[in-house]
Amino acid sequence: MSRALIVGSGGREHALAWKLAQEGEVHAVPGNPGIADVAVCHEGSAEDLDGVLETVRRVQPDLVVVGPENPLIAGLADRLREIGVPCFGPDAQAAMLEGSKAFSKELMAEAGVPTPFGRACSTPEEAWAAVRELEDLGKLPVVKASGAALGKGVIVCDDTEQARQAIRRAMVDREFGDAGQTVVVEERLTGREFSLLTVCGAGTYWSLPVAQDYKRALDGDRGPNTGGMGSVSPTAWVTPDLVAQAEERVVAPILGALAARGLDYRGVLFSGLMVQDGEVYCLEYNVRFGDPETQSVLPRLGSGFFDLLREVASGGRPSPLKVEDVVAVTVVLASAGYPDAYRKGVPIRLPERLPDGTVLFHAGTRIGPQGLETSGGRVLGCTGLGKDLRTARDRAYRLAEAIQFEGKQFRRDIAANAH
Ligand code: AMP
Ligand code: GLY
Repeated sequence: MSRALIVGSGGREHALAWKLAQEGEVHAVPGNPGIADVAVCHEGSAEDLDGVLETVRRVQPDLVVVGPENPLIAGLADRLREIGVPCFGPDAQAAMLEGSKAFSKELMAEAGVPTPFGRACSTPEEAWAAVRELEDLGKLPVVKASGAALGKGVIVCDDTEQARQAIRRAMVDREFGDAGQTVVVEERLTGREFSLLTVCGAGTYWSLPVAQDYKRALDGDRGPNTGGMGSVSPTAWVTPDLVAQAEERVVAPILGALAARGLDYRGVLFSGLMVQDGEVYCLEYNVRFGDPETQSVLPRLGSGFFDLLREVASGGRPSPLKVEDVVAVTVVLASAGYPDAYRKGVPIRLPERLPDGTVLFHAGTRIGPQGLETSGGRVLGCTGLGKDLRTARDRAYRLAEAIQFEGKQFRRDIAANAH
């Protein structure tokens, strides 16, 4: 039987493990208590590349799937390829698409990808000048820490005073650490967003079914940006035309620009897209599966996922899989306080039996002295599946209500506007 090793420990990695375990043997480093139900978990950390390589030598997988971006940015895929292990995930240079928003903007410009006007700034004065420049054009700014900041380093501003504070938070107070050494000041667009996860290999690509993510902490898209509070797939308002536009204008040209630099992209390219006046704009690229998009996308795929990832990791082309005619909705249960400071170690009570048509994905959980407890901001993902949106939503929320832990917070409006 084929053997996969998944690197990471979140809800996305649990969804990957759950799907791959239907078709092969799965190991994870470090995994989490939910992943342990479907895979063999090994001690370690996704950030410790030497440790991961040591686990790879022991487990001898046919395929390594890297969940989070940091190990990719740090060169894990390069090191695995050096020792002949197929890795699903791009090498370090291509991973800079996510590792540096400044680099990403530069490459988008080179490739002619439609993206809001933006300027990379390395001092607060430069950033302030960029804000004033936008103000003169009658446009509002978005201030983004250039480095990887777990989806939290983006501040969408309603006025220039907010932009001034955002620049201070990122560049002076260093709220996002080194990620904020450089910021990108960007024109704020208004429109609806969707996520396109495209499997890329050997110069070709195949997009997984479209998903929508709910990034803000509170109902009605209010509150701070988070890693993602829920997701839905499909989204009826995203027409095949929009997907084709995204592939032609956002995915294909950036793969071309990478290829021109001698970079062969093996993995999933995540395009964060906004549609304004019928036109698709790229807000960002990620070099990995989305979290929590993956939890809603993978349950909709037919068989062959293991082979698809292994083929691409080995340098082959992605072949399309069947997409099931079901709707999936994922509601994230978060710790009180997230995305700011939160407490860990809060005991979790799960229902004895999960409601029909649901899957529970663990994210920030661990086993403590008293059993299952919280260990992160995003704790669990409740996925509901159904023949229509209403059924899928009802099921996801039934599961969300059935789980208890102190301070549990979740949005009530996930997928309420998906059609
Ligand atoms: P990013 O990490 O760059 O995708 O940004 C996170 C979120 O911030 C996006 O999903 C959007 O909701 C918002 N955002 C980012 N850039 C812009 C922009 N130029 N205009 C409006 N909203 C934006
Ligand atoms: N859900 C957005 C992300 O994975 O970055």
